[in-house]
Amino acid sequence: MGVRIRRLRAGDVAAVVGIERRITGSRRTSALGRYLRRALRTREGICLVAEVDGEAAGFIVGDVRPWEFGEDREVAWVKVVGVDPRHQGEGLGRRMGEQFVAELRRRGIRRAKTLVEWDSGDLVAYFRSLGFDRSGAVVLERTV
Ligand SMILES: CC(C)(COP(=O)(O)OP(=O)(O)OC[C@H]1O[C@@H](n2cnc3c(N)ncnc32)[C@H](O)[C@@H]1OP(=O)(O)O)[C@@H](O)C(=O)NCCC(=O)NCCS
Repeated sequence: MGVRIRRLRAGDVAAVVGIERRITGSRRTSALGRYLRRALRTREGICLVAEVDGEAAGFIVGDVRPWEFGEDREVAWVKVVGVDPRHQGEGLGRRMGEQFVAELRRRGIRRAKTLVEWDSGDLVAYFRSLGFDRSGAVVLERTV
């Protein structure tokens, strides 16, 4: 199995949206495709793809914010990560996460954050395996 982690390209967007659909089981068009096309245009995001034998099989998408709740330095956020269910558990998520962190180090970014639903045990375990830990902050929200 030839695995390569590389930057997202415009030609990957449809495949990535397909992977998201297979994970969520939803047929609705999500906002991910639009977000990725914009990120490619503005070059602001950090978007990586895991390729297996030449086909996109996973993705990790993040962005960098110049200032963040109480932080006075750049902070990177992982916005979404997904591995095609046919390839989960094969180490693609780990390799993408490690490369994401390596890219942050290269850019001199010292902190990464993400938001995970409290009952998404697989995602919590995944991020913990990459060295993330629970932060002291609490997310507050309301319906508007
Ligand atoms: C979480 C996810 C990204 C992990 O990617 P993966 O390639 O399957 O994971 P890896 O094989 O690289 O495993 C890395 C580590 O993650 C953890 N992990 C991965 N899947 C797990 C699961 N189902 N349960 C518990 N821990 C898990 C383990 O700690 C593992 O370390 P180990 O190999 O030492 O046990 C992937 O399973 C996924 O896409 N899940 C759905 C995510 C989702 O809902 N995204 C939002 C919609 S797109």
